[in-house]
Amino acid sequence: MNCYGRLSLLALASVASIASARPSAPAHLDSRGNNEACTNGKAIYITSNTAQNAVVALPIAQNGSLLVANGASTATGGTGQSAVDSTGADAGPDSLFSQSAIAIAGNYLFAVNPGSNSVTMLAIDAQDATKLTVVGSSATLPGEFPNTVAASDKYKIVCVGLTGAKAGVACAPYSSSGIGAVDALRPFNLGQTTPPAGPLNTVSQVFFSGDETTLYATVKGNPAVNNTGFLAAFPVQNTRSSCHAAASVASTGVTSSPSGTAVLFGSNTIKGSTNLFVTDASFGGAVLSVDSAGKASTVGKGVIDGQAATCWVAISPATNTAFVTDVGVDRLIEMSLTDASIQGSPIDLSTFTGGDPGLTDLRAAGSFVYALSPGNGTTDAAITVVNTLTKQPVQHVSVASLGLTKSAQGMAILV
Ligand SMILES: *[C@@H]1O[C@H](CO)[C@@H](O)[C@H](O)[C@H]1NC(C)=O
Ligand SMILES: *[C@@H]1O[C@H](CO)[C@@H](O)[C@H](O)[C@H]1NC(C)=O
Ligand SMILES: *[C@@H]1O[C@H](CO)[C@@H](O)[C@H](O)[C@H]1NC(C)=O
Repeated sequence: MNCYGRLSLLALASVASIASARPSAPAHLDSRGNNEACTNGKAIYITSNTAQNAVVALPIAQNGSLLVANGASTATGGTGQSAVDSTGADAGPDSLFSQSAIAIAGNYLFAVNPGSNSVTMLAIDAQDATKLTVVGSSATLPGEFPNTVAASDKYKIVCVGLTGAKAGVACAPYSSSGIGAVDALRPFNLGQTTPPAGPLNTVSQVFFSGDETTLYATVKGNPAVNNTGFLAAFPVQNTRSSCHAAASVASTGVTSSPSGTAVLFGSNTIKGSTNLFVTDASFGGAVLSVDSAGKASTVGKGVIDGQAATCWVAISPATNTAFVTDVGVDRLIEMSLTDASIQGSPIDLSTFTGGDPGLTDLRAAGSFVYALSPGNGTTDAAITVVNTLTKQPVQHVSVASLGLTKSAQGMAILV
């Protein structure tokens, strides 16, 4: 069924739900009443993670294509830095070993500056999604090498994952005037260096639960030394307070290592449940359930044949499935949100792209996914747009003209 078919069915569904006076809106409508499955994005945002760190904004046309010629780059004022690989060389593609080096909440973006241990808040202009303005000053963090960030629009909290010699998670409130006081580091004992040597044994991603009452962090283990990766869960406290204490993230959390997982990487919350879709670089993807105490267990695993490192995931609202990328293979794999089973054949992009080395960060809106290939220094940084309903690539564009190189990392989408 195409998106318009869905739209008319949804219109009928809404009428039915009004007639029966159901208290809540149908799940497929977002908070603005839009049918998410059919609402294309307005723009995507990527950090350059170059010495003068910048956020590159690329507008999306009504038909879902990227308008690279209308893109713009805005300096964060902070410094980018690449992690290092096993040979000590700068890592790239996948310069930060993370998902979510940039996050969106309402009309604000938050981008990490790994080389200056800070996070920058930027406002998105209401008329022009490529026009960004830094808000306040970048906030200095109580640790080293921030590589992932999450923001809660509901509770106005920003949290950053750090994976250098001082690793962990730190959070701060934010307002329209900028980021407030950063709290103390919730440390992870990774025994890392600054910059970190990985990708094993590093923080992967911080993200909030669907209802924004829990902050999660995924951390990669190192199977070779029996070091198991884990999911950490920190509750958001004072979520109901009105007059005294503002909401904040608890200083301690719980960690768990769901069975059969080892190198937890990118994650997405699954709408309408408290389950999580996670990638595991050592085999593919998994669906986790999380109990009320914050401990995760494995619901289902999808092992991907011929994978190199499956690390990033986006859930397409049009298909209600996960699309995962692999830094070593130029393809998308579609997986079930119920049990992570593989859906259909791999979506091989190599002919369409002319052979990008592999894909990293991706985001979905409407029936499109936008997948970044930072390139390897020989090939340009490029984005491939794929229609999730037809499983066909529709656009492949170089983004080198906007200053993106193999160190580019992180993607956020404005819908
Ligand atoms: C999508 O829209 C853009 C801008 O209007 C246009 O340049 C492009 O050709 C369109 N793509 C398709 C596949 O129709
Ligand atoms: C890891 O644990 C397994 C099972 O306990 C053991 O057989 C193996 O020797 C350990 N490997 C290392 C490197 O410690
Ligand atoms: C970069 O990727 C291209 C395409 O996959 C490959 O031909 C080339 O050898 C790679 N270069 C480096 C430096 O890895």
